[in-house]
Amino acid sequence: MQTTVFFPLPEYLLPWFYANQRNLPWRQSKNAYAVWVSEIMLQQTRVEAAKAHYIRFMQALPTVFDLAACEDETLMKLWEGLGYYSRARNLKKCAQQVVEEYGGVFPSDKKLLQKLPGIGEYTAGAVSSIAYEQKNPAIDGNVLRICARIEGNFAPIDSVERKRALYQKLQSVYPDAAGDYTQSLMELGALICLPETPKCNICPMQGRCVAERDGLQSTLPVIPKKAEKKKVTLSVFVLKTPKGILLCKRPDKGVLAGMWQFPNVEVDPKNPLSLKMQLGGLGIKNYTVLKEQGHTHVFTHLIWDMTAYLVETSDMPPAFLSFSLQELEQNVSLATAFKWCLRLL
Ligand code: ADE
Repeated sequence: MQTTVFFPLPEYLLPWFYANQRNLPWRQSKNAYAVWVSEIMLQQTRVEAAKAHYIRFMQALPTVFDLAACEDETLMKLWEGLGYYSRARNLKKCAQQVVEEYGGVFPSDKKLLQKLPGIGEYTAGAVSSIAYEQKNPAIDGNVLRICARIEGNFAPIDSVERKRALYQKLQSVYPDAAGDYTQSLMELGALICLPETPKCNICPMQGRCVAERDGLQSTLPVIPKKAEKKKVTLSVFVLKTPKGILLCKRPDKGVLAGMWQFPNVEVDPKNPLSLKMQLGGLGIKNYTVLKEQGHTHVFTHLIWDMTAYLVETSDMPPAFLSFSLQELEQNVSLATAFKWCLRLL
């Protein structure tokens, strides 16, 4: 296939990648398990935040067999701080399936990888290329941005047709060093072709990029307007009892599914129920409010506007379990969105 010069070709990117790639913990091994864990971690977590978690995770669970057999609480503890806990749950499910169906060896075929829990098209492309040198692109927002700029492509970044066409175009130029090429695209997006302030003066694609040539860096990629995030107002109760602090588990589905949380109540900010009614609804009748503090937690599609109350009570509704402060800090996988409440104690 004929390609124009305005395309991130491996002959330009690979030499730059070999000279400039970051020393990242997941680049020590091309073992499919190690690559897969890193790709899942990096899905919604920044590289800097993922590094220490990754090292700790691989030390605790060095093989797919260790992950498949680990306790849920151990896994949640290792995942703590990374957010999006359904990823961790799928991680274990996926490990169990790889052990049961493939004897602990991840398949190299992208289609088979995509059938495993939590592995979508991007991750299947990344794992099959990085671990098995399969010529499969891994297209995420970074790659879409780089290519929109280099090619001068005005298709909206969420266009399915654009992604499909780009996939084919990229695949047609994939070199034998497939994993390095996949990572060179990621690296260009992370180090040079930044969303706000691209470093065109040190870019290996300098002179071969439409956006640089025509001054379109801030126009491309075309990003469609996002829907507004839903805002939820919550009262959060840090209930201090003679037996300890009360927690409950979140439902198995939805935001922070299955995580531990402080008891909380969604309130209508225009027409809030009294604290007495809110606490009464949780089964707390006799109490003293000692402190209150506000905090906002932002998820991808949701904002929680929270007010936490430190409440002393001797009521122990059966829906809650009590924990010491030490247990709470060390052994319980408290959802990150609630961690700030510990400041009240
Ligand atoms: N983001 C997603 N995967 C990555 C990788 N392997 N290296 C650096 N950044 C990444």
